[in-house]
Order: sequence, then C-alpha cells, then structure tokens
Amino acid sequence: MLTESEQDPATFWEEFYLTKRRTSSGRATAALQRIAAKLTPGRALDLGASHGDDVIWLAQQGWLARGCDISETAVARARARAAEVGLEQQAQFEQCDLSAALPEGAFDLITALYLQSPVALARAAILSQAARQLRPGGHLLVLSHAAPPPWSPKATPSTIFPSLAEELAVIGAPTPELEAIHAEIVTRPGRGPDGAEATLEDNLVLVRMRLT
Ligand SMILES: C[S@@+](CC[C@H](N)C(=O)[O-])C[C@H]1O[C@@H](n2cnc3c(N)ncnc32)[C@H](O)[C@@H]1O
Repeated sequence: MLTESEQDPATFWEEFYLTKRRTSSGRATAALQRIAAKLTPGRALDLGASHGDDVIWLAQQGWLARGCDISETAVARARARAAEVGLEQQAQFEQCDLSAALPEGAFDLITALYLQSPVALARAAILSQAARQLRPGGHLLVLSHAAPPPWSPKATPSTIFPSLAEELAVIGAPTPELEAIHAEIVTRPGRGPDGAEATLEDNLVLVRMRLT
C-alpha cells in the first residue's frame, strides 16, 4: 500500500476535496487583500486556486483573474461560485497540473498562496517559472506556512515548510530584473479542529519584475 506522500497528486487532492474540504470560507486571504489593495488591477493568475475565493475577490476588485488547480472538483466548485456572483468572465478557472506546466501568458500579479503539498509537487520549478511570466512591473506573491500548526496530528516532513531564504532562492530573487519588496514572517490567528487557538506563522514574499 502507498504511503500518503507516494500517492498520485491528482488522486490525493481530488479525494481531499471530495472528503475533507467540501466547502469554502468564501473569504479571500487577508495578506492578499492587504497587498493587492496597493496594486493597479490587471491580469492575475492564482496557482492552486482551490475553491476560488481569492480569484473571485480579485475579480471583484477589477482584476481579470484566472485560477488553476489540479482538482476537478475544486475547479468545478470555483466556476459555480463565480457564476453565482455573475463574474464568470472576470474570474475563470481551469484544471491543471502545475508540476507539468503553468497556464500560458504574462501576468501583472501571480499568487501562490499556501501552494504546499504532502504529495509530489514541483514547487521550486513552479515558482521560478511564475517569476518568468510576470509582465514588467508585475508582482509575484508567495505566502506559505512557515511551520506546522501545534495541533498537527503527525510529524510532517520539514521539506513542506520552507524558510524565507529558501523561498527567495527558488523564485530567483533578488536579481537586477526581479526586486524583492517583502520577505518577512507574518502571523495570523488560527483555530484547530478541537477549537484550540494559536498564532500561526507564514512566510510572505513579494517580488516585482522591474520596468525595463
Ligand atoms: C494547501 S492548498 C492551498 C489552497 C489555496 N490556495 C488556499 O490558500 O487555501 C494547495 C492547493 O494546491 C493544489 N495543487 C496541489 N498540487 C497541484 C498541482 N500539481 N497543480 C495544480 N494545483 C495543485 C491543491 O489541489 C490545493 O487546492
């Protein structure tokens, strides 16, 4: 029998959305809201978009936003939510395997919000490619769990939790073209399955492709 980490990623995440996460909060990620409020809307791409809360929020702020995810179920739910709020043109979703390829195009904002996985994910290659798909003046926002929550039931491989230096290294920033605007640990309140509260730490990295 396969251990969890050996499972096929598409099967693992499909099962996750069918059995463990059936609903969405309907709320956009707070760090994204803070950062995007300072940017001029353009074309956005969210990597690992789940139920689409962040993409739909971006569309509501005037972005032409796309989300992609490996789970057909998550993508179908995201599309249905965009249609419910009348934003199916501005908030579009597609099934993809980012480990194979990113959606084509150049973007003013690319987000990778908790794009972390206990099964195979070519995360470093994905983030490095994302940086190459930024338009001049475009931003890449990476938010990642910096450590497991205290209620985590098992020892999770430490490779899932990158440091800020590792995040910058895989993105390939800073360089003369790619400016590192933020690289910091941010905190947020969290609540475990039994209601226990804790302060959770995230890596927040924001880089910008310089204007030529
Ligand atoms: C930890 S969840 C984070 C979801 C969402 N961005 C958020 O902030 O809640 C990781 C997401 O990445 C997706 N994912 C994992 N591997 C993927 C892959 N190879 N290609 C595309 N999406 C993938 C999963 O289906 C899942 O929705």
